[in-house]
Amino acid sequence: MIFYRLVEMIKGSSLSTIKSNDGFCVHKTHFAISKYQKKRFNCVASVSSVEQQLKLTGDSFIRPHLRELSPYQPILPFEVLSTRLGRKPEDIVKLDANENPYGPPPEVFEALGNLKFPYIYPDPESRTLRGALAKDSGLESEYILVGCGADELIDLIMRCVLDPGDSIVDCPPTFTMYEFDAAVNCARVIKVPRKMDFSLDVQKITEVIEREKPKIIFLTSPNNPDGSVINDDVLLKILDLPILVVLDEAYIEFSGLESKMEWVKKHENLIVLRTFSKRAGLAGLRVGYGAFPLSIIEYLWRAKQPYNVSVAAEVSACAALQNPGYLEKVKVALVQERERLFKLLKQVPFLNPYPSYSNFILCEVTDGKDAKKLKEDLAKMGVMIRHYSNKELKGYVRVSVGKPEQTDALMDCIARLS
Ligand SMILES: Cc1ncc(COP(=O)(O)O)c(C=O)c1O
Repeated sequence: MIFYRLVEMIKGSSLSTIKSNDGFCVHKTHFAISKYQKKRFNCVASVSSVEQQLKLTGDSFIRPHLRELSPYQPILPFEVLSTRLGRKPEDIVKLDANENPYGPPPEVFEALGNLKFPYIYPDPESRTLRGALAKDSGLESEYILVGCGADELIDLIMRCVLDPGDSIVDCPPTFTMYEFDAAVNCARVIKVPRKMDFSLDVQKITEVIEREKPKIIFLTSPNNPDGSVINDDVLLKILDLPILVVLDEAYIEFSGLESKMEWVKKHENLIVLRTFSKRAGLAGLRVGYGAFPLSIIEYLWRAKQPYNVSVAAEVSACAALQNPGYLEKVKVALVQERERLFKLLKQVPFLNPYPSYSNFILCEVTDGKDAKKLKEDLAKMGVMIRHYSNKELKGYVRVSVGKPEQTDALMDCIARLS
């Protein structure tokens, strides 16, 4: 009879060392050993049954911290939703994901229709697009890197900066991808909740940074889901702290404020992220971009996937930038519609909307109405809005700003529920 004993589990890895009692047989294996199995493992086993006991299943290969990760909760895909509701996609009033309902300018459709070289890999440096972005932003292209959505850049930054066990500061309620990507990258999330009015708690942020030495803080301006912005004094205070500040400006166009992209020249610890998803109606094509200090961007170039921006994505983004008049017109339409929507929502007895600098409006659901039920009732009528399952936002819904007819359809359905 040979006894096997679990000698060590290598932290943060699926590698385990297993030793037999005869001292001869030592395995380094990739068997996943859970806490439960670890207990069981100290029991006696025969040679053949050890292999059986440690049954090799697919998840044995997965990194331990990922086995504990809860899956990201995406919203229902448009096509699935339209089938479920038995409606054409264009008949669904989709106000749940802050997309731009006007879509991109006609130049994008034309450029996509005329794609000459879809069978050739894209330029790994997205030079044409970065050149166009330099013109658009006033910041030289050497400071700019493009990604498969701002989402990819959030993950890329974490992969370049965080070691397993490092921490980030997250200021909820905010965009949930920071927390999600931190978990994927084996980082700890230190939460410094926003105050009741959704402004940042700068004092607590300062204390946490001094005490726990986190590596990155994610700041979102305008913030998703409430639409508030971060003023320059607050940003400068946080930039003075020993931490890398990632300022997410996904919705900056709707705020009437200037982007801080150029600030990366003065602040070695600032990264500014932006996207084509909202401003140019290209959410489905996945193009985001960021401004980085030169001392940081160098490493992102080394770590990024070479073909992260597809030919279709680059061509579309370039075509969108060729029609700044269209982008401006659509932005103005959405900002005007936001103000109209705000006034209408304010008249609903059970909604308390928050003023927003973005293309969505957060509403507290009051008067004993249930926010989740409100979202579900509207969904049955073909109007999609966002509800949150986390406890801070349980009593809230977020409504994206749509076209005027979408606002009318929403208000009509709300009236029917009153
Ligand atoms: C604050 C914020 N940042 C980034 C993103 C993602 O942008 P992208 O579509 O470019 O990945 C979103 C999307 O909703 C967002 O709300």
